[in-house]
Amino acid sequence: MRLGRPPAPDELDPIERVSRDELAALQLERLRHTLDHAYRNVPLYREKFDAAGVHPNDCKELADLARFPFTTKEDLRESYPFGMFAVPREQVARIHASSGTTGRATVVGYTKRDLDVWAEVMARSIRASGGRPGDIVHVAYGYGLFTGGLGAHYGAERLGCTVVPVSGGMTPRQVRLIDDFKPDVIMVTPSYMLALLDEFRAQGIDPRATSLRVGIFGAEPWTEQMRAEIEDAFDLDAVDVYGLSEVMGPGVANECVETKDGLHVWEDHFYPETVDPFTGEPADEGELVFTTLTKEAMPVIRYRTRDLTRLLPGTARPAFRRMRKVTGRTDDMIILRGVNVFPTQIEEVVLGVEGLSPHFQLRLTRPGRLDVMTVRVEARPGFDEGREAAGRALRSAVKETVGVSVEVEVVDPETLERSVGKLKRVVDERHD
Ligand code: DLL
Repeated sequence: MRLGRPPAPDELDPIERVSRDELAALQLERLRHTLDHAYRNVPLYREKFDAAGVHPNDCKELADLARFPFTTKEDLRESYPFGMFAVPREQVARIHASSGTTGRATVVGYTKRDLDVWAEVMARSIRASGGRPGDIVHVAYGYGLFTGGLGAHYGAERLGCTVVPVSGGMTPRQVRLIDDFKPDVIMVTPSYMLALLDEFRAQGIDPRATSLRVGIFGAEPWTEQMRAEIEDAFDLDAVDVYGLSEVMGPGVANECVETKDGLHVWEDHFYPETVDPFTGEPADEGELVFTTLTKEAMPVIRYRTRDLTRLLPGTARPAFRRMRKVTGRTDDMIILRGVNVFPTQIEEVVLGVEGLSPHFQLRLTRPGRLDVMTVRVEARPGFDEGREAAGRALRSAVKETVGVSVEVEVVDPETLERSVGKLKRVVDERHD
């Protein structure tokens, strides 16, 4: 794997160089304050803590956090729109919201100080990715209620970069702007980066010859195989950024370009735990749970992200724990004839078969009594002979590594829908 150059020690925030003990002391102080703030100002937390028989004063050490109740997406939905705010609405400087495809939108709010912290952690993330003050940063995450565009934007400004706020869509224009403005860094979902790749080729521009040095990709799961694919296609360092609106937005955790070994969680602001998704008990690997440590407008206590990962000790930033690349969400898991399947597992296999492109879709149908999953995957341009053999190779590789039988359809290049933001991998056509 290609690795990038680390920032010099004096380029880091002082907090990035503290010891684990110093960090833990700061976390405890902030955690106690946050529990108190949430309890005093948000009725939902007061009710939940009271019902669980815990009080903010019961938090004497970090491990005591496990005694406090979880917060779920349903809690946030029920408090729609502003019920989770812990400060008077007049002090909320900005609002974002999730798209609400599976129900009512989830609304989140930020005070001026929250926005300041967000810009700081995002600037730290861009620097960890290999960005530097003075770089030109092309932001192709969507601007609007989605946190991607504005989150990336203010972080890049904070680092001292020149920001190009393109947002998502209008793909031919994106390519033209990259060719003309010569950005050093691009921030975009990995799936939309693939759509840009097609467009570069369509315009006859060599994607490896662009000015891009670093790509900061997130907002959806992507695999090591996809990293290799993108790095090779564009000759850049592809780095993972993670975040979610309920906790902040992009910049909760980020990989360091010099190690690319999982994402360092910026634990001075966001306290991570992993729990068994079914029992809620602490587990080495499982559902990621976050407690914010400094958020004013909307603190969250033990928020169940539904994202699956494992926490590991820090490397490039030794005091900060890492989270392994997210393999998927509990609600993206497909149960196919009793076997759990995540789209990322299929991605890993697809990218290992010669002649198959990273553009694929998973279609679920129920023709009889049993569910069938069909992997519709585009052949790579120019790969005309051997498609059938590639399809057979994919089928047997999925059977062998994932443990399920799937149907495979190898289709022409450019036939599957492209994303401009988060990609929808699964098309569920099962009707009960
Ligand atoms: O997607 C924030 C974001 C924007 C992160 C831009 C990174 C870059 P939401 O729309 O609230 O916020 O969606 C959050 O997206 O719970 C994960 O399931 C997924 N997700 C975000 N980053 C990653 C990642 C933004 N690096 C949800 N890998 C999260 C895997 C990710 N999944």
